[in-house]
Amino acid sequence: MEIKVFKTAEEIGSAVASIFVDEVKNNPSCVLGLATGASPIPTYKEIIKAFENGGITFKDVKTYNLDEYCDLPKNDKNSYYTFMHEQLFNGLDILEENVHFLDGNAEDSEAECKGYDAEINAAGGIDIQLLGIGNNAHIGFNEPADSFTDGSFKVKLTDSTIEANKIYFDENPMPHYALTMGINQIMAAKKIILIATGPKKAEAIRNMVKGEVTPQVPASILQKHDDVIIFLDEAAASLL
Ligand code: PGA
Repeated sequence: MEIKVFKTAEEIGSAVASIFVDEVKNNPSCVLGLATGASPIPTYKEIIKAFENGGITFKDVKTYNLDEYCDLPKNDKNSYYTFMHEQLFNGLDILEENVHFLDGNAEDSEAECKGYDAEINAAGGIDIQLLGIGNNAHIGFNEPADSFTDGSFKVKLTDSTIEANKIYFDENPMPHYALTMGINQIMAAKKIILIATGPKKAEAIRNMVKGEVTPQVPASILQKHDDVIIFLDEAAASLL
């Protein structure tokens, strides 16, 4: 694991965005695994700035998002579909048919997950996977569990995750289920970038980097990937 510590979330955003911009310039039909939450927002702002400055196109880029809530309309203001369009896709020339999400409203969630995994494989796998980390060390919505998960699946969210994310829900209650990529699937990405800022993440970061590899600390599996860069601010790095 390579660990980089920055002073501000904005500096992290610039550094991570330049990795994505270089990838898209070098490999215009790359496959990106993307994340929602507060952590990637500065990165997405910087990617849009780079696009506006010219010399880069996202027309052939394919994206696959990590996760999506169940039982929330696709266009709800709190869906991850809406988040990604507002924070990133609407600012780029990316094609709608090239952005992919798990359908949290699919009647047969197992078939939906299998189809999503097959699509990612058919696209050649993920070149760069962006991750945040939960206060409980979840990645995607892989919550602490008795075993590491494989492909995409339907998950019951933990109280810790509901507590952390319910602040975004004022009209509809926060869903208690989601579809998420699985751990082995995340580990199959060629390169992984994880961003964490703020003191609430410090313990999860310490457990991820220094603790044993255990499904009770889902992000600890990243110790076994050979191309992971962790971007932290000083508060998130404070227990290392
Ligand atoms: P955050 O969420 O970026 O909003 O902190 C990260 C996560 O829960 O994975």
